[in-house]
Amino acid sequence: METAAELAERFDRRAPDYDGSAMHRGLAQAVADFVRLGGVRDILDVGTGTGLVLRSLPAGPWRLMGVDLSPGMVQVARAALPSARFEVADATSLDLPDASVDLVTCVTMVHLVPDAAAAMREWRRLLRPGGCLVLATFADDSPSWHGPTPQTGYSPADAHAPFGSSEALERLAAASGLVVDRVAEWELRSADGAPEYRCLITEFGSDGR
Ligand SMILES: C[S@@+](CC[C@H](N)C(=O)[O-])C[C@H]1O[C@@H](n2cnc3c(N)ncnc32)[C@H](O)[C@@H]1O
Repeated sequence: METAAELAERFDRRAPDYDGSAMHRGLAQAVADFVRLGGVRDILDVGTGTGLVLRSLPAGPWRLMGVDLSPGMVQVARAALPSARFEVADATSLDLPDASVDLVTCVTMVHLVPDAAAAMREWRRLLRPGGCLVLATFADDSPSWHGPTPQTGYSPADAHAPFGSSEALERLAAASGLVVDRVAEWELRSADGAPEYRCLITEFGSDGR
């Protein structure tokens, strides 16, 4: 698995062109359409990249914060959404108080952390009562994947398997002290109609803890 420094370097290199990805733009919008925003005051996007998810949300009274390991990605995010607070930080260990956030979003990032269940426990710690975590992950049968390549030493299929089915996500919820409340599927097709990516968008509630 890549180290934090290697990940930051890899995404620094991608930062200038990252927003050109129709997959990432489309999935961010699908997540923004999926989340429930009633009563929400504080939203945290972990592994925010260029802030696509926060940029896709409707305007509202909520405070927006994004954290990412890559300074290059954070620089793009800050320029694109000056009203949000973006920090360079490791999302698996955050210097934020307990119960300070209503919604944590994490889109195509959880497969990059060394211990996903531990990271999700950290995000659960940040949730106010009634708050939730929304993860977007690549489905097992996605025709393509973004993310780790054989050049990084392990295969995309292996990296995404723990997050690619509702059964796997239920196991992850159990290991994190969360419960699966809702799951949606999102698909991107190419211009000729062939499926390119299939993703799962899952809402985890914190009230089962
Ligand atoms: C595939 S990108 C997804 C970006 C964004 N969520 C989106 O949907 O466009 C994964 C991002 O996660 C970040 N990342 C990976 N591990 C991280 C960690 N432990 N803490 C913070 N950011 C991390 C990477 O730097 C990269 O910007």
